[in-house]
Amino acid sequence: MRTTPRDAAPATGHPVLRAAGLSRVFTGRAGEVTALSEASLTVAAGELVVVRGPSGAGKTTLLNLLGGLDRPTAGTVHVGERELTALREDKVLELRRTELSYIFQSFGLVPVLSAAENVEVPLRLLRTDPAERERRVAHALGLVGLEGHARQRPYELSGGQQQRVGIARALVTEPSLLLADEPTGQLDSATAARIMDLLGELIHQRGLAAVVSTHDPLMVARADRVLEIHDGHLSEPAARGHAPDPLQAAARPVAPVTTEDTAPASAPAEEPQPEPLTRAELRRRRQRP
Ligand SMILES: Nc1ncnc2c1ncn2[C@@H]1O[C@H](COP(=O)(O)OP(=O)(O)O)[C@@H](O)[C@H]1O
Ligand SMILES: [Mg+2]
Repeated sequence: MRTTPRDAAPATGHPVLRAAGLSRVFTGRAGEVTALSEASLTVAAGELVVVRGPSGAGKTTLLNLLGGLDRPTAGTVHVGERELTALREDKVLELRRTELSYIFQSFGLVPVLSAAENVEVPLRLLRTDPAERERRVAHALGLVGLEGHARQRPYELSGGQQQRVGIARALVTEPSLLLADEPTGQLDSATAARIMDLLGELIHQRGLAAVVSTHDPLMVARADRVLEIHDGHLSEPAARGHAPDPLQAAARPVAPVTTEDTAPASAPAEEPQPEPLTRAELRRRRQRP
C-alpha cells in the first residue's frame, strides 16, 4: 500500500514473523468456540501489517498467539529462525524479553512507577547494567517525545502520553518484532491518529516487523498491508478503495508532542500487565514518599 520512499529505512524483506495454519479453539461449558481458524501470515522487517476487524473477530486471540502469550490448538509461529510454538515456557519468556515487544490497549503501565521506571522494567528483567539502562531509557523516552516527563507517574499523564510510555517501553529492548493489540482503542480519535502516526514512523525508521490490530478503519493509514479478520478468518480485504489515501497519510508529519492533550486519562488497567518487578522492589517503591 505504501508508495512513498522511506527515509533511512533499512532494507526490508527478510521475514521476521511467520505464522502458518494458526487455529485456536476455546472449550467452555457452552461448547467449543473457534476464535481463530487456520490463519497464516508473514511479516518482513520494516513492514507494518494492520489487522482490522470488529469486536469479537479474533484480533486479541491472533496477537496473543503471535506473541507467545497463548498456545494455538493447531499451527506454528516462527520468530526469526525459532519456532515459538515449539519452545518451552522459559524459552518463550526469554524470546518475549529479547526479540518481541507488546503494546497494550490499556497501556499496561505500573501505576506506582514513573514513566522512566516503567520504560526501564524490561531492561531490569534483562539485567542490563544501570548506566546503560539510564542511557537507553532516556533515548527511548526521547523517541516518543517524552523527555520532559520522565519522572511523572501514569496518572499524571494523558492517555496519549501513557501510550507513548508504552511505546517507549516496547522499543527500549530493541526488539525485531512489535505486536500491538488495539493500541489506540482507548484514545480519542485525534490522539489515536497521532499515536498511529508515531508508531508507523518508528516502525519504519527502525526496520521493525509489526502487527497492529484495530477495529477503526481510519487507523489503516500507516499500514504497508491491511488484513481483515471476521469470525476468526484472516484474509486480504475483498475490495480496495475504502482506506484513506496512503500518499496523503504518509506525507502527514508526526505531530509535535506539545500539542498532545493533557487531560489525564481514566483508562482501566485490565490488560495483562508486563512482568512486574520483584515484590521487594515494588514494596520499596511503594514506601517511597
Ligand atoms: N478465553 C476464552 N474462552 C472462550 N472464548 C474466548 C476466549 N477468548 C476469546 N474467546 C472468544 O473468541 C472470539 C474472539 O475473541 P477475541 O480474540 O477477543 O476478539 P477481538 O479481540 O477481535 O475482539 C470471541 O467470540 C470470544 O468470545
Ligand atoms: Mg481484542
